[in-house]
Amino acid sequence: MPASPFTFRPATARDHPFLEQMLLEAAAASGDILTPDTLASQEHTFRYVAEWGRATDVGVIAVDELGVHAGAAWARLFDRAMGSPAFLGEQIPEITIAVAPDFRRRQLGTALLTELADAARAAGFLALSLGVETDNTAAQQLYRRDGWALHHTAGDYTILSKDLRTPHSG
Ligand SMILES: CC(C)(COP(=O)(O)OP(=O)(O)OC[C@H]1O[C@@H](n2cnc3c(N)ncnc32)[C@H](O)[C@@H]1OP(=O)(O)O)[C@@H](O)C(=O)NCCC(=O)NCCS
Repeated sequence: MPASPFTFRPATARDHPFLEQMLLEAAAASGDILTPDTLASQEHTFRYVAEWGRATDVGVIAVDELGVHAGAAWARLFDRAMGSPAFLGEQIPEITIAVAPDFRRRQLGTALLTELADAARAAGFLALSLGVETDNTAAQQLYRRDGWALHHTAGDYTILSKDLRTPHSG
């Protein structure tokens, strides 16, 4: 198999603009067409990047061989009171992932999930959660192949979880 053209690095507070861009991609996949100007007013979406860089935030940025940002995956803790349908516990971060359109179907989403799981495990987390629109076929397929387990459904959302205690075997 040829070497991957992507490298991965931790997402820092300075990556906030790129994470916003990726969050807009994720929102668009759920039918929410937002812009950088309208994002901050959508609290249920903006919370995934608001004040990015907290001590418990974990994220990974993928960069291609020219240094172009190709995608990101990140995990963040929320309070139960925030009412996210994917809330599974105070110590179970919820993930967000998006690959920039030009870089899709090159196994980058898969690689980002692996990198993020490794980073979250290294940070001491035991599990991850996510909510995905039931008709987001691309993401549903990606997660299924990555070994995520169905936790429950909530309206149009499927809530999945990933146990980090055993490394993913591929
Ligand atoms: C979902 C997403 C991250 C996948 O990224 P990606 O880099 O294209 O994913 P991969 O190349 O690793 O794909 C892995 C597998 O997922 C499935 N898959 C990915 N995109 C697919 C698509 N458009 N249609 C059907 N299956 C798809 C395939 O099984 C694929 O394997 P294959 O290419 O060998 O057939 C990307 O499509 C994206 O950014 N979408 C918008 C944001 C989003 O929906 N985020 C998730 C919100 S919950």
